Amino acid sequence: MRSSEDLIIAVDGTLASGKGTLSKGLATDLGLPHLDTGLLYRATAKACLDAGVDPEDAEAAAGLAKALKIDDMKPEDLRTAEVGQVASKVAVHPPVREALFQLQRDFAYQRGGAILDGRDIGTVVCPEAHVKLWVDADVETRAARRVAELNAKGDPITQDEMVAQLRERDERDKNRAIAPMKPAEDAHLLDTTHLSIDAARAKARQIVDQVRADLARS
Ligand code: DC
Repeated sequence: MRSSEDLIIAVDGTLASGKGTLSKGLATDLGLPHLDTGLLYRATAKACLDAGVDPEDAEAAAGLAKALKIDDMKPEDLRTAEVGQVASKVAVHPPVREALFQLQRDFAYQRGGAILDGRDIGTVVCPEAHVKLWVDADVETRAARRVAELNAKGDPITQDEMVAQLRERDERDKNRAIAPMKPAEDAHLLDTTHLSIDAARAKARQIVDQVRADLARS
């Protein structure tokens, strides 16, 4: 375990569970830099789409992943349903995950600490993180949140289509051979189905504060 001054917080969970919003809020509260690691997989997917590379071609996709730079990613171009679908396809390839691993480790180990959110941060990328959160909510609630977000951007996707997409993507993320989506054994579980954004953030803060207090005593 590292110094509590270099706090690493791993926030994993299902799509549209609220983990991104929660992580951003925590990062603001704690003054820590935050990386949404899904953007790395999305940027790889977008690079495949732009270059006409087949997302099933693991080596070609990994080549594009290796060339990524965190500072060059444009979240607004990456958070579309199409890019999300392709992202979950490129994320199954071990060479793509290897290509993105070091980028994520370097971000986590920057001086002062960091918050990373994703699917495998607490299990694979930073198993030694000080705080691990697993954020989830029922599929209808998650779909409603994502539909509202996409409809506001002009994407006409319906609730039923989104539920079907989430189920398909959950299955792919959970069942892939490498780094499947699952809670770390020592993760704190946060079900946001009936929690407002502020309530989820307050609960997460309590958990982080408790871990910090324990670290300061040890
Ligand atoms: O969280 P998101 O929708 O932006 O993630 C896009 C895809 O990337 C998703 O299908 C799962 C994958 N992903 C992953 O495999 N590991 C991560 N740490 C983050 C995302």
